[in-house]
Amino acid sequence: MGAQQAHWQNSPAPNNVFKIPPPAGMGGSPASWGAPPQPQGLGSSGECTFAYEELAAATNGFSDACLLGQGGFGYVHKGVLTNGKEVAVKSLKFSSGQGEREFRAEVEIISRVHHRYLVSLVGYCIAGGQRMLVYDFVPNRTLEYHLHRKGLPVMDFSTRLRIALGAAKGLAYLHEDCHPRIIHRDIKSANVLLDNKYEAMVADFGLAKLSSDNYTHVSTRVMGTFGYLAPEYASTGKLTEKSDVFSFGVMLLEIITGKPPVDRTNAMEDSLVDWARPLMAQAQGDGNYDQLADPRLDRRYNPSEMACMITCTAASIRHSAKKRPKMSQIVRALEGGSSLLDDFNQGVKPGQSTFFGSSGATSDYSQNSYNADPKRFRELALSSEECNNNDPGTSSSVNASR
Ligand SMILES: Nc1ncnc2c1ncn2[C@@H]1O[C@H](COP(=O)(O)OP(=O)(O)OP(=O)(O)O)[C@@H](O)[C@H]1O
Ligand SMILES: [Mg+2]
Repeated sequence: MGAQQAHWQNSPAPNNVFKIPPPAGMGGSPASWGAPPQPQGLGSSGECTFAYEELAAATNGFSDACLLGQGGFGYVHKGVLTNGKEVAVKSLKFSSGQGEREFRAEVEIISRVHHRYLVSLVGYCIAGGQRMLVYDFVPNRTLEYHLHRKGLPVMDFSTRLRIALGAAKGLAYLHEDCHPRIIHRDIKSANVLLDNKYEAMVADFGLAKLSSDNYTHVSTRVMGTFGYLAPEYASTGKLTEKSDVFSFGVMLLEIITGKPPVDRTNAMEDSLVDWARPLMAQAQGDGNYDQLADPRLDRRYNPSEMACMITCTAASIRHSAKKRPKMSQIVRALEGGSSLLDDFNQGVKPGQSTFFGSSGATSDYSQNSYNADPKRFRELALSSEECNNNDPGTSSSVNASR
């Protein structure tokens, strides 16, 4: 047992500890929890298993002081392992029903994925019905925080573009270079973490698949993250890489406009996407971005970079999943591959584009049904949020030092 853990066990337990209760049969005090019966260290395929007591020690008994926040899947605590490595420990609240073998298989797939723009899964813990995931700690909060938190300095446009490009590269890797390919399922600005140089690190890929409470969990998440959801996914549950592309497009829109995807204060009648579609058509036609661009940028952006971002956004949020670009195409476009911009537009004149008008409706999701849906989805989203304190869209970052 490492020095840090021994020290913690000898200290009086701080107030409000044990937010994550010890697994059944492990007693009520840290000293009596003991290690659950599982192997330690690196598993056969490189994944790392942790004992419950190891993670409890790393997070000071899952104390409030170490709580980073809470999302749709449960609490996240900051931890320091005995070797000094900083981690984020996510305690899954919907995991007890999933078979252990299935969970391990999924975790194994995710833990093999390492990429500059993806948050690595360091390991996991299974203790009784409790499942925990251990990630690299990323120090500079989330894109959502830096875009929307009041009182922070305005993120300049080149930083925003760099974050978009990093996230796009991470996602392209999941979609196109991983075997089996991984659909993220929950792309949003809260799942783009930032390092101290404001480089993007995409978090939580594959996580939705690890949750076993399929019905309630999926439905709360579908509604809770409504603003990012591809229409075909929201209406039929049909999931492809292109639903991630749609969500990525919504996130680009958030970056461009500085507005959240759904305005909870109801100042914006429609979702961000509905509000922005005609403005994007207009901006693409006349090159005037004043209506669309985040007013806090005060026009401090390179117009051709703004045009590129808008083109990528508009293509990504096309109604027709098939007509949305692949993530690797978006990467190349954001890097300045202008030929791809023509590709995206597929010969459609600005203002008549398939992603703005009925000509974009295809068999995989009809324009008529989309037109009828937004109000209904919005109502469901907001009412679901009222019923669900743990709404993933409203996770709170709290007081653990970063
Ligand atoms: N690897 C990490 N490093 C640092 N902070 C993290 C890490 N993972 C999560 N966090 C922080 O923990 C908090 C909760 O994250 P969590 O992923 O549970 O919520 P979310 O992203 O809002 O929703 P979702 O459940 O859909 O992912 C967020 O504030 C996030 O910044
Ligand atoms: Mg998250």
